[in-house]
Amino acid sequence: MTATITSIAHYLPPDVYTNEYFEKYLDTSNEWIVTRTGISERRFAKSGGTSDLIVPAAEECIAKRGISKDEIDCVIVATVTPDHFFPSTAALVQHKLGLKNAWGFDLSAACSGFIFAISTASGLVKSGVAKKVLLCGADKMSSILNFEDRNQAILFGDGAGVCLIEASNDDNYGMLDQVLHIDGMGTPFLHMVAGGSAKPSTIETVQNKEHYIVQDGKNVFKYAVVGMADVSLEIMKRNNLKSEDVNWLVPHQANLRIISATAERMGIDPAQVMINIHKYGNTTAATIPICISEWLQDGKIKKGDNLVLSSFGAGFTWGSVYLKWNMND
Ligand code: COA
Repeated sequence: MTATITSIAHYLPPDVYTNEYFEKYLDTSNEWIVTRTGISERRFAKSGGTSDLIVPAAEECIAKRGISKDEIDCVIVATVTPDHFFPSTAALVQHKLGLKNAWGFDLSAACSGFIFAISTASGLVKSGVAKKVLLCGADKMSSILNFEDRNQAILFGDGAGVCLIEASNDDNYGMLDQVLHIDGMGTPFLHMVAGGSAKPSTIETVQNKEHYIVQDGKNVFKYAVVGMADVSLEIMKRNNLKSEDVNWLVPHQANLRIISATAERMGIDPAQVMINIHKYGNTTAATIPICISEWLQDGKIKKGDNLVLSSFGAGFTWGSVYLKWNMND
C-alpha cells in the first residue's frame, strides 16, 4: 500500500510587507534583499496564532475533498511556532475545526517539518493506524522574528499549507520513498536561546532578546546548499530517477540561491522548479505545501508527474520525498 495527497489548500495572511517596508527603518535595501535571497515581499499576520493560519486552509482542503470532518482520524501540525508550549497546536486545530474523531500531535522539525510530517503521516496510513490524516505545515514566523536584526527580519513570512493523506487507490502512485536526516550539531547555527526548559524565560532573557531566532546565516547557507542537494540526489539515485524524469522539484523556500544550487546539482531545468519565495519569503513548515497547492491550482501538476520534495532546516534537519502524483480519481 502507498499513501498519497488527496487534497491540498493553503492560506496566507492578507497583509503584504514589501522590502521597502524594511528599507524604512533598517540598514538594508530592496536590491540587497532581492539579490542575496530572491525575496521581494512576504505576509505577516497581524493577530492570532499559527492555528488561525491553519483553519482557513484546512476548511478549504476538507471541502475540496468533499468528506465529512468526522472521517478525519488524525491531525498533525508541523511547526516551530506553536500557539502555546502546550496543549499542542494540533489540539487547537482539532477543536476549532470540530474534528470529533481525530487524535493528533505536533511535530517539530523546523523547515523540514512538512517533509518529516508527510513521512510520518504516510507511515500511519500504511500501517492502518490512521485512514485520513489532516497534515498541516504552518508557521507564524513573525512571532519569533527579531525585527531589528536585518540578518533575519527580511527572510521569513507567515503562512499555512494543509493536505489530506490517505491510502492511494493505486500502489504505483503516491509517496514512493523518503530519505530523512537529523544532526544536532547544527543547533548553534540556528536556534532560540531562551523560553525552553534549558533556559526558561525571565525578564533578562526577554531584555536580551533571547526569545527570538538566533542565526548564523552564512553557516546555515553553507550546510543547506550541500545538505539539500545531497539528499535530493540520494533519492533520485535510489529510485533510478534521471534529471529528465523529475517533473517538479519542490524545494523548501529559504533562499533562491540555495534552491538554484540544488536544482543545478540535480541537473533540473529551472522551469521545472517550484519557486514562490519572491512572494512569501521563508514560511518554514509551510513552504512546500503552499508551493504544491499553488501549482495544482494553476493546473501545472499532472497525474503521473514525479515530484521530488526537498528541505533543509534547523536541527539540522533535512530530507527528500519522492511523490508520484495522483489525487485518487
Ligand atoms: N541588508 C543588507 N546587508 C545585510 C543584510 C540585509 N538584510 N543582512 C546581512 N547583511 C550584511 C551582513 O551584515 C554582512 O555585512 P558585513 O560583511 O559588514 O558583516 C554582509 O551583508 C554579508 O553577509 P553574509 O552573511 O555573507 O551574506 P550572505 O550573502 O550569506 O546572505 C543570508 C545572508 C542570511 C541571506 C544567507 O546567509 C542565507 O540565506 N542563509 C541561510 C538562511 C536560511 O536559510 N535560514 C533558514 C533555515 S533553512
